[in-house]
Amino acid sequence: MVSLVRPAEVEDAAAIAAVHVATWRTTYRGLLPDDFLNSLDESGYEERWRRILVEPSSRVYVAADGPQVVGFASGGRERAGEDGFSGELYAIYVVQEAQGRGHGRRLVQAVVGGLRELGLEDMIVWVLRDNADARKFYERLGGAYVRTQPITIGSALLQEVSYGWRSLDAIV
Ligand SMILES: CC(C)(COP(=O)(O)OP(=O)(O)OC[C@H]1O[C@@H](n2cnc3c(N)ncnc32)[C@H](O)[C@@H]1OP(=O)(O)O)[C@@H](O)C(=O)NCCC(=O)NCCS
Repeated sequence: MVSLVRPAEVEDAAAIAAVHVATWRTTYRGLLPDDFLNSLDESGYEERWRRILVEPSSRVYVAADGPQVVGFASGGRERAGEDGFSGELYAIYVVQEAQGRGHGRRLVQAVVGGLRELGLEDMIVWVLRDNADARKFYERLGGAYVRTQPITIGSALLQEVSYGWRSLDAIV
């Protein structure tokens, strides 16, 4: 099967929403409340992605196995005023069955290209502190721990940590 990463189109909104909801449920079961995960609504996310995909500043990519979208990533200008960072990886999700096959790295590389197009030179990403697998992935790609802060998702009060790359060239 041919695997590739390409820029997302507005027609991908439904597939991205499906990956989004499915991977939140597999990744965050046990970390986020069950009722919150069960209530995630694909059609609501599809609308949200449809809006994001037409924004000129948005950089969204999908990973495909043949015709099937199995992952996506998005990035752009850093959103919270974090000192020393102007670019951000907003989200990256690969469905469980397709993880560990290089889609994640290819998606990050695509986002890096998008950040460069926007004139950005560094990248930060936020990840739940207890999402050990994603943290290892960012560490493998050369990310350096930045800091920890609280985050509320649904009714859950959690901690998130950030990883940073001071130069996009440092992403391996
Ligand atoms: C995290 C995620 C995006 C990584 O994508 P992936 O396609 O599984 O990862 P890749 O196959 O591209 O791996 C790239 C490198 O990271 C390493 N890596 C990935 N996951 C790892 C893990 N859990 N532990 C150790 N190394 C890991 C791989 O071994 C590979 O290194 P290598 O080239 O030396 O073999 C994906 O697993 C995912 O979507 N997870 C669930 C959702 C999630 O947590 N998203 C992040 C939210 S902030």
